[in-house]
Amino acid sequence: MENYRPDAFLRSIDESLSKLRTDHVDLLLHWPRDAVPLVEQIGALNMVRKAGKVRHIGVSNFTTALMAGAIRLSEAPIVTNQVEYHPHLDRSVVIGAAGEAGVAVTAYHGMADGRVFTDPVLAGIAARRGRSVAQVVLRRLIRQKGAVVLSKTVSPARAAENLAVFDFALSRQEMAAFHGLATADGRIVSPPGLAPTGDDATGR
Ligand SMILES: NC(=O)c1ccc[n+]([C@@H]2O[C@H](COP(=O)([O-])OP(=O)(O)OC[C@H]3O[C@@H](n4cnc5c(N)ncnc54)[C@H](OP(=O)(O)O)[C@@H]3O)[C@@H](O)[C@H]2O)c1
Repeated sequence: MENYRPDAFLRSIDESLSKLRTDHVDLLLHWPRDAVPLVEQIGALNMVRKAGKVRHIGVSNFTTALMAGAIRLSEAPIVTNQVEYHPHLDRSVVIGAAGEAGVAVTAYHGMADGRVFTDPVLAGIAARRGRSVAQVVLRRLIRQKGAVVLSKTVSPARAAENLAVFDFALSRQEMAAFHGLATADGRIVSPPGLAPTGDDATGR
């Protein structure tokens, strides 16, 4: 967090590449931070891309206004906005804006920090489908237009389970049930001083 200024940022990229034992990464994303002007943040991302240290650049947890600013200021395409997205968050605003701008939305925290596993509505959908809760949650995220969906597990068996979601579809009623679970305070990843305000403040 102390490395947002361009000179510190460039040093920190080199340090990370050295730790990763690689000379470049495929994608580098930026969290928003008010303390450093957006033009400097986006300029630094473009600089490391030009230097060949990253292939693509993107943003993470950017509101629609910040995303529009990043797109305007960036020479290279902003390929994605990676945002928290699970059944307890309505992401229609950012998905709509990203779609119009040709930016992919990447969904993280799909399991809502484990909260999906105690939700009776999701348990019902999963039971009727003969699938696990994780599978119906991932299936629903994948169905969002243009979405890239992340999933993390330390268990090889769960990784296989989470990948086996391309052979079934959710009905319109099931999708509506998912949408009905979103709440205004559904956001989980909200670190003080870093959580963006604006359309994201309501979790959208
Ligand atoms: N840009 C950002 O601000 C941001 C913030 C957070 C995360 N991320 C990224 O998002 C990616 C996903 O991470 P996440 O924390 O959001 O993960 P997630 O997919 O929401 O998973 C959260 C937890 O669910 C459990 N889980 C996964 N599959 C399961 C299954 N089939 N059955 C039961 N439990 C299951 C996992 O526990 P086990 O490991 O014990 O199976 C995992 O700890 C990561 O690569 C992370 O770097 C980005």
